[in-house]
Parts: sequence; C-alpha cells; structure tokens
Amino acid sequence: MEKTLIKSAALVEAPLEKPVKSDVLEWDNYDNNAFYETVKAEGLQKLAEAAGLADGCDVLHLKPYWSEAESILEVGGGYGRVVKTLLQNGYYGRLTVVERCQNLFEYLKKKFNGQKNVELLQIDVHKLSEISSSFDLILFLWGAISDFTPEEQASVIMGLKDLLKPNGRLVVDTLASHMIPLGSEVCGRRFYSLEVDSSVIHVHLPSDEEIRKYADFSGFSKIERIEYETLIKRTRFLYLLS
Ligand SMILES: C[S@@+](CC[C@H](N)C(=O)[O-])C[C@H]1O[C@@H](n2cnc3c(N)ncnc32)[C@H](O)[C@@H]1O
Repeated sequence: MEKTLIKSAALVEAPLEKPVKSDVLEWDNYDNNAFYETVKAEGLQKLAEAAGLADGCDVLHLKPYWSEAESILEVGGGYGRVVKTLLQNGYYGRLTVVERCQNLFEYLKKKFNGQKNVELLQIDVHKLSEISSSFDLILFLWGAISDFTPEEQASVIMGLKDLLKPNGRLVVDTLASHMIPLGSEVCGRRFYSLEVDSSVIHVHLPSDEEIRKYADFSGFSKIERIEYETLIKRTRFLYLLS
C-alpha cells in the first residue's frame, strides 16, 4: 500500500516501570495492518472478550449521543462489534463504517450484507478525502487511536473533525493512561507492543494531555470525558469532542 506519511522515528521518553526495549521506535499505522490481517475477526473477537468489551458496554454508555444522531461514521469496523451493538439496540440512522484490513472488510461485508442503513467502505483513515458525506457522530472506539503514532494521531483527529457536521461530535476511546494494555510489552513511556500468532501490533496510548492537545489543535471547543469500566473492571475513557 502506498504510504502518504513519512515513517516516524518517535523518541521515547524514560520508562515508567519496566526497562525500555529500544530508545527509538520505527513504526507507523501502516505496519499494524499485518496484525489485523493475521488475527482476523475470530482473533479480534477473542481480544475484545479478554478486554471485557465484547458486550459493547462502551457503545451502551454512548446511547444518549448515538440515539440522537441521524448519521454515524465508525472508524475501523473490526469484526463488527460496534455495528452489532448499535443495530441490536435500535439504531436506525445512517451508519457508515470504514475498515482498511482486507480480511476484516470481507467479514463485515458477509455479516452486514443486506442491512440497508449500513454502508461499508474499504478506506484507509489516512485518506479521509475519499469520504464525501459528513456525520453527526464519529465513533473511534476500543482504543483504535492507539494504533497510530503520536504524529498520526494528531492528523487523524484533525481529518475526522472535517467530516463532522457543524454540531457533530467525535468520540475517542482510550484505556486509562495509567494502565498498561493487556498482554503487551512496554517499549517506552505509553508505547507498547503486543504479539498474537507471531504478529505484532505497536501502539501508543495517548495521555489525557495529548488528547486535549489534539482536540485543541483541531479546533474542537468542548472536551468531555466519560470514565467507565469494562466487564473485567479495566478503566477506560471516552472523550467526547465537539
Ligand atoms: C482495535 S480495532 C477496533 C474495532 C472496532 N472499532 C471496535 O471497537 O470493536 C481497530 C480497527 O481499526 C482498523 N484500522 C486500523 N488502522 C486503520 C486505518 N488506517 N484505516 C482504517 N482502518 C484502520 C483495524 O483494521 C481494526 O479493525
């Protein structure tokens, strides 16, 4: 796949608790696609179960927002966890889902084929200009922002802001920044790697300060934060940017 961003070499700050694996990280979000192609829908569902998110508790916390929205964009549809929860709980508006991974996209097509209000787009979120509509609500859930380097996180938030209707809202989920992603190796401050079936994903868990900085830079004027616990009592944050 053609890269539109220069691969970042993020300098890592001093570690919090564990030794630093390397003091320079060289990865970006494009590298993480191989992980999703390997784990596929079944593997991703197991990870959601392990994280206590398979029941869609995050989506249910957001019901006051999505039940009012005529149009929703979900960024990175995965195995359909969010779409399924929305549909099962009576969302009848227009639902657009972008997913880059070929394997997951094919899975989503099979699963939601025939749902008239669901539009599936195989688009990379770095190329948001391919989306011509605008939305009342954009959902960027289950820490999907962490799949991007800090530089990419800033530009993706900015790009998503441009896809919102004037009174629209972007929701960004993160694991609470004092926590460590399950099963991952610490590679530096808020940088982690996770290996499943010999495939590795690199993540950067954004801090509260970073999320606020991205939001401010992108022109959001209001930032709310909902704290919630998953089924396995892990604390997560839902940032509501408007
Ligand atoms: C952690 S999963 C979250 C799945 C789903 N949003 C959920 O909450 O269950 C992240 C998803 O984002 C997708 N993704 C990662 N980078 C992407 C990109 N640049 N463009 C589109 N999708 C991307 C991955 O393929 C994966 O399906």
